[in-house]
Amino acid sequence: MLICPDSCGLLRAKKATRGSSRSEGGGLAALGGEGTEKPRVCEKPIRGRSDFRRQRHLSARGLERAVPAPDFWEEVYRNADVSDLPWYTPELDADIGRALTRHVPDGSRILDLGTGPATQAIALAKRGYDVVATDIAPSAIEKARRAASREGVQVDFRVDNILDSRLEDGLVDGIVDRGMFHTLPPERRPRYVTAVRRILRPRGYVVVKAFSDQEPRKIGPYPFSPEALGSCFEEAFEVLSIEDARFHGPGPDPPKALLAVFRRRGPGDRP
Ligand SMILES: C[S@@+](CC[C@H](N)C(=O)[O-])C[C@H]1O[C@@H](n2cnc3c(N)ncnc32)[C@H](O)[C@@H]1O
Repeated sequence: MLICPDSCGLLRAKKATRGSSRSEGGGLAALGGEGTEKPRVCEKPIRGRSDFRRQRHLSARGLERAVPAPDFWEEVYRNADVSDLPWYTPELDADIGRALTRHVPDGSRILDLGTGPATQAIALAKRGYDVVATDIAPSAIEKARRAASREGVQVDFRVDNILDSRLEDGLVDGIVDRGMFHTLPPERRPRYVTAVRRILRPRGYVVVKAFSDQEPRKIGPYPFSPEALGSCFEEAFEVLSIEDARFHGPGPDPPKALLAVFRRRGPGDRP
């Protein structure tokens, strides 16, 4: 369902039917690593699939969404086979592909932000985009470079923390964020939005896929309603659409998501 902004902000999302089945997708605890309104610190870094199960066990005791140790993401990528990670999917998500086809012409420069296994970055390069891909975890970037080389595609991979980014102003025409923004606790989100706005050329597009508050499994990243997701961006960006989606992946019951498309306001655009 497509949700567009009305004069008072965002129209309400249609309530999605709530499923009840449990799957390996419950391991998405690590996808959302970063917590609740009252974050707690994970004392032990979470490693590999068995630790995702451990996190799921913690969640049963009400400790879900604990804030990870500072090197959480690096530990994950150093120790895991990326294809075992719960967010791994070998293909470009079809809805992300459609959003880009609609808004960002082939040959444009696109940033895959929080690229992780880099499957989205590699697929975008194969589609003819000029791709920059960043991640906070050096091991993710190292493995991503090897994957791109195996696939024979050129991607400009960089280690970069979006909350303290060294990427150039106006570097890209479009940004794809599949599952990164929703890992951030509320107080870090304005910094993300400011950085993304700076890195994007005026009237460039951001496509964000984030966990939906309609997902019944209560572990994982921060869940968003369309209103909450839109409100994070609407000061600096025009909210073009927010629609119900899924995090495609290997599991039989992919988590419910929102797919949002925002456009950076340009000079003279309505604030
Ligand atoms: C859930 S994973 C998604 C990975 C990838 N986008 C995908 O869909 O397969 C979130 C990614 O964001 C990265 N990340 C987390 N915080 C970050 C930050 N502050 N700056 C850049 N990347 C970050 C993590 O290392 C991880 O690879």
